[in-house]
Amino acid sequence: MEEIEIIKPDDWHVHFRDNDILKAVVPETTRQFARAIVMPNLTPPILNAKQAIEYKKRIKKHIPKSDDFKPLMTIYLTENTNKNELKDAYKNGSVFAVKLYPAGATTNSESGVKNIYNIMHVLETMAEINMPLLIHGEVTDKDIDIFDREKEFIDRYLDFICKELPELKITLEHITTSDSVSYVKEANENLCASITPHHLALNRNDLLAGGIRPHNYCLPILKSETHRQTLIKSAISGDPKFFLGTDTAPHLVYDKENSCGCAGIFNATYCLSILAQIFENEKALNKLESFTSLNGAKHYNIKPNKEKIKLIKSSKPIIFKNTLDVNEHKIQIFDPTFHVFWNVL
Ligand code: DOR
Ligand code: ZN
Repeated sequence: MEEIEIIKPDDWHVHFRDNDILKAVVPETTRQFARAIVMPNLTPPILNAKQAIEYKKRIKKHIPKSDDFKPLMTIYLTENTNKNELKDAYKNGSVFAVKLYPAGATTNSESGVKNIYNIMHVLETMAEINMPLLIHGEVTDKDIDIFDREKEFIDRYLDFICKELPELKITLEHITTSDSVSYVKEANENLCASITPHHLALNRNDLLAGGIRPHNYCLPILKSETHRQTLIKSAISGDPKFFLGTDTAPHLVYDKENSCGCAGIFNATYCLSILAQIFENEKALNKLESFTSLNGAKHYNIKPNKEKIKLIKSSKPIIFKNTLDVNEHKIQIFDPTFHVFWNVL
């Protein structure tokens, strides 16, 4: 039997939501990951340290006793964010990073930033204290094609921010294009990027060809096969600039299967199994640990985890559970549809 052991992974981008969904999804992440950066796009959003601390308490209630897991909290950046409060929250350890959503870019981003130039003074403070900035990098203009919104964000805003504040530690999150890969590779060491399992596993045909598949709808939207191949190359390269951020984003099935369905793919349950399969298919299993367990920690200036996990390859493909129950409702579990043989022990 084939088996690999790697340092326990971290998930640098998770949506846990709140209430009943929170309760259902937290154990799916804490089973496999030692730490995760928790997104603040609740309704209402997490805007300050007090709210982040309260949210962390609610998360902790649902971590199974058997799992040693640390949630890392974030604050949702708005044009009213107070930089002194942010400084205190970072220095006293209650908040790990700040999330920038361009207003209207994605789920619950309405309170996000409309004009990037209005938050430059906050970013300047963050650069001074080494507080990381996590960016949903897409423009929101209706006249920009949805498939071009990530590249346009780099050209219009990211390049400006990086040039103005080269000291600022930035994660360009859930990148989907070759343009982002090239930009990040060439930028200074403070700019890194996270990649999701679904953008490694799927291309836009999986969303749109032969019928529309709402469970594969996410933002940034799935791109062409050429872009997917570049993402895979970056993930398996071992380049420390690229690491895992799952963007696992639970929505109830009836909110996805809808005439205006929500963006988000709930991929926590089989995340590491799927990644191991993708890496093995590329003959790059020896690079899995860098992507899942080392590169992100290095970027965020924290130590890799001490614990290890084992993955075992079975002779038959894993049969995926379809859904996760939330009371009488369900969340669809991500299934990339190719055969996956790796089980997490
Ligand atoms: O697909 C996505 N879902 N992308 C995001 O940026 C947000 C997320 C969510 O919160 O549902
Ligand atoms: Zn997200």
